[in-house]
Amino acid sequence: MNELSRKGLAKLHWAQEHMPALMEIRKRFSEEKPLKGLKVGMALHTEAKTGMLAVTLADGGAEIRLASCNPLSTDDSVAEALRTEYGLEVHAKKWESQDEYYCNLNSVLDMHPDFVIDDGADLIAMLHTTRKDALYNVKGANEETTTGVIRLKAMAAAGALRFPVMDVNDAKMKFLFDNRYGTGQSAFDGWMTATNLTVAGKRTVVAGYGWCGKGVAMRAKGLGAIVVVTEVDPIKAIEARMDGFEVMPMVEAVKTAR
Ligand SMILES: NC(=O)c1ccc[n+]([C@@H]2O[C@H](COP(=O)([O-])OP(=O)(O)OC[C@H]3O[C@@H](n4cnc5c(N)ncnc54)[C@H](O)[C@@H]3O)[C@@H](O)[C@H]2O)c1
Repeated sequence: MNELSRKGLAKLHWAQEHMPALMEIRKRFSEEKPLKGLKVGMALHTEAKTGMLAVTLADGGAEIRLASCNPLSTDDSVAEALRTEYGLEVHAKKWESQDEYYCNLNSVLDMHPDFVIDDGADLIAMLHTTRKDALYNVKGANEETTTGVIRLKAMAAAGALRFPVMDVNDAKMKFLFDNRYGTGQSAFDGWMTATNLTVAGKRTVVAGYGWCGKGVAMRAKGLGAIVVVTEVDPIKAIEARMDGFEVMPMVEAVKTAR
């Protein structure tokens, strides 16, 4: 096993220890093979937790192709371990260019998937535009994030959506745990890694007081930042105020962020 794979495998093992529900499903899938004969095309942040999801579907008998839904978020060690240790077809690389990003999404669609697991709706959008050749085989899809769901609802309203899509973002477990708590934590993890600065004492502007915004504002406050919220929905703006945040229009708020 090469060094990169070894690192990635350790991360996958760590993730699976903390995903007991998925591991129960994996055990059942390994025995029952409910996805035998099906092809699943995935575009997700390619890291340990989504990696274990791909492994679980493969254990269920599915043929998998995985690309990233974001050119910056791939963990190359996990991608490598998924390839070498689990035999999955992974088309993702950290810092991939825009051309490489779309090339990788095309590689996923080249398998002519039965099902699509999308985050941001790029695969689904391509199936309706540049990759209509693969549309015939798609039975359904699911979409993970708020932005993707907004795109798809507009397509559905225009009568343009050609297969059913499950809106994962509307699951309570998703918007509460991922959007609010997950994004609240990972936004600061990324910010601190990128800047090597403390958050305490910094004036921080949070744009929007929806599920993500609430989590980010809560974590910013907990880390000692001085937090300003901007929000166009008057009820949420008042909620932010009652939660103890300053609320102002972005044009004023941005001047305070320093
Ligand atoms: N892990 C992640 O990185 C992650 C996870 C979930 C969602 N997201 C993304 O985060 C974004 C927010 O998702 P969410 O679930 O919190 O959505 P949401 O709909 O719950 O909240 C968005 C809020 O922004 C407000 N808003 C809209 N336009 C505004 C403007 N011009 N100025 C100020 N406020 C404005 C809306 O009124 C709403 O309250 C989406 O783009 C979503 O795709 C990222």
